Amino acid sequence: MKGVTYLRPVKAMAVLNKLLNLLSDGECHSGQDLGHALGVSRAAVWKHLKKLSDLGLSLNIQRGRGYQLVGGLELLNANCIKEHLQQKAANNLAQLRLESVVDSTNTQLMQQAQMLESGSVCLAEQQTSGRGRRGRVWVSPFAKNIYMSLLWHFDGGAAELEGLSLAVGVAIARALRACGIEGVQLKWPNDVLVEGRKLAGVLLEMGGDPSGSCHVVVGVGINVSMPKQAGESIDQPWTDILQITAQQGLSEISRNKLVGVLLSELLLLLQQYPAKGFSDWQGEWMALGLHIGCKVQLSTQGSVRSGTMLGVSPAGALRLDVGGVETLFYGGEVSLRAVS
Ligand code: BTN
Repeated sequence: MKGVTYLRPVKAMAVLNKLLNLLSDGECHSGQDLGHALGVSRAAVWKHLKKLSDLGLSLNIQRGRGYQLVGGLELLNANCIKEHLQQKAANNLAQLRLESVVDSTNTQLMQQAQMLESGSVCLAEQQTSGRGRRGRVWVSPFAKNIYMSLLWHFDGGAAELEGLSLAVGVAIARALRACGIEGVQLKWPNDVLVEGRKLAGVLLEMGGDPSGSCHVVVGVGINVSMPKQAGESIDQPWTDILQITAQQGLSEISRNKLVGVLLSELLLLLQQYPAKGFSDWQGEWMALGLHIGCKVQLSTQGSVRSGTMLGVSPAGALRLDVGGVETLFYGGEVSLRAVS
């Protein structure tokens, strides 16, 4: 029967989620207690516990005592996120969807964009096909980082969105600062770095009519506590909140708090953007911008341009002094690096 084959994985997922919630405190729980709380046999508990290692989580088995999730876990929680939302921003939140595992939160919202209202948000504990800029993979292990996408509809087409991805970088920097993190810098167009290492990235995708009614999905990935093994597959220098808080002598930052604070910034940014545009954000971007006044190399598909970075224009374009001539470069599939 169709219904039965569909319901089984859903039920299994619900049990797994409940198990994760029980173990998230990092304490030792007996198989009997877990079975009782989940309403399943001890054999079934064991079957579910084995799935945790598939998610990259390490389980400590204490003979005769029970099971313990090493280091505990802070799972995404809608109430905790909402506690950190400013009231003005909360009015713009249409839907807060929390998923365990998805292909990509951006893909999810892009696929359903026509049916969803502005202010629809999708967050996931894990992405199996997390996407970065320039066709890169975004490494997305379970419950360790932040993978969030936010949908917004615009009437004025692509022109209204000029510089938006840079403004999103500023919003992320503000949220990180509000959580106590210092030294956040932005690398054009919108990489978020601390001490030259990438902490967060932005993937903006657009659909609909580029000259009229369109929608944008703003995808943000922030490394919070990237496991060593997963981090080995990242092909650029990276950092995470855990390393930064240790270096800066800060106490641990809650993932739910960071999501709430960031969501406040983004929901207000997207609401105000059509009226104000990037010029409102340009000064703040320049204050955080990396490589300004330095020699840089800009690689686009097939060509490399060298020059001195002057800053960004009111439309968010990169201003480069190329042999004494100021040249503007717009976003897209480009990458920037400093040269000595
Ligand atoms: C970059 O390459 O810097 C952009 C990374 C963007 C990653 C985020 S994670 C949430 C959203 N879903 C995705 O598949 N990508 C973005």
